Amino acid sequence: MHKLLLALAMLGLTGQAAAAADIEPLAMTCNACHGVRGVSAGETIPSIGGLPKTYLQTVMRQWKYDERSSITMGRLVKGLSDDEINALAAYYAKFPWVPVPQPAPAAKLAKGRAVVAADCADCHGPRGGDPDIDAPKINGQWAKYMELELEKYRDKDFTMPHRKMKKAVRARTPAEAAAAARYFAAQGR
Ligand code: HEC
Ligand code: HEC
Repeated sequence: MHKLLLALAMLGLTGQAAAAADIEPLAMTCNACHGVRGVSAGETIPSIGGLPKTYLQTVMRQWKYDERSSITMGRLVKGLSDDEINALAAYYAKFPWVPVPQPAPAAKLAKGRAVVAADCADCHGPRGGDPDIDAPKINGQWAKYMELELEKYRDKDFTMPHRKMKKAVRARTPAEAAAAARYFAAQGR
């Protein structure tokens, strides 16, 4: 009996190891842009290592099923199966989140901090590293990438499903939203 349980446990373990190894070659194609362990070298390409699995999975599925606009990613995920999407999300979620703090002028940071405290911190945490379950970490995410994303949430011709995030961005001017992005980008752990 014990031997059987042990054998089953080993099967389970080797099964998991195989799944992780299977997804490696596909992940290498992602790393070409997103960096090893999902730590991007910038500026318009986001880091994805250590983001919540549910967030990674949701975003990729939305692209695949045309529920979310994108400039680059939509066509890249079209050929992936749902299982591959889930495995890739699990693969990147298990790495640590590595913020890359980017300096910015003090006046801009002060402006950004005020916007964040008033309108963003509730969902993202005061420095972007303590988000709600459906939001990604954005402390030390690339500033240029975030500025572009914020304009997508603002643009009515761009399909972005998250209503509350769109509302939050549209309540602010582009300059205020950009200052908030610079503030989040300047944060470390
Ligand atoms: C040619 C470069 C390139 C490749 C290859 C690439 N990506 Fe991306 N990725 C981007 C860009 C640029 C964005 C920003 C959104 C956009 O413009 O589509 C992005 C955004 C993302 C996001 C959203 C991150 C966030 O914080 O919202 C995820 C998740 C993602 N990519 C996963 C992947 C995975 C998984 C692969 C491999 C199957 C991959 N990417 C391959 C360039 C790339
Ligand atoms: C009601 C909660 C909420 C509020 C308020 C909010 N956000 Fe978000 N934010 C989210 C969620 C959830 C997402 C992911 C949405 C999605 O799936 O498209 C997100 C996404 C983002 C992204 C894109 C991150 C990425 O990796 O693609 C940025 C940048 C951002 N928020 C900045 C802000 C700023 C700046 C403010 C304040 C002006 C703000 N958010 C207010 C919940 C919120």
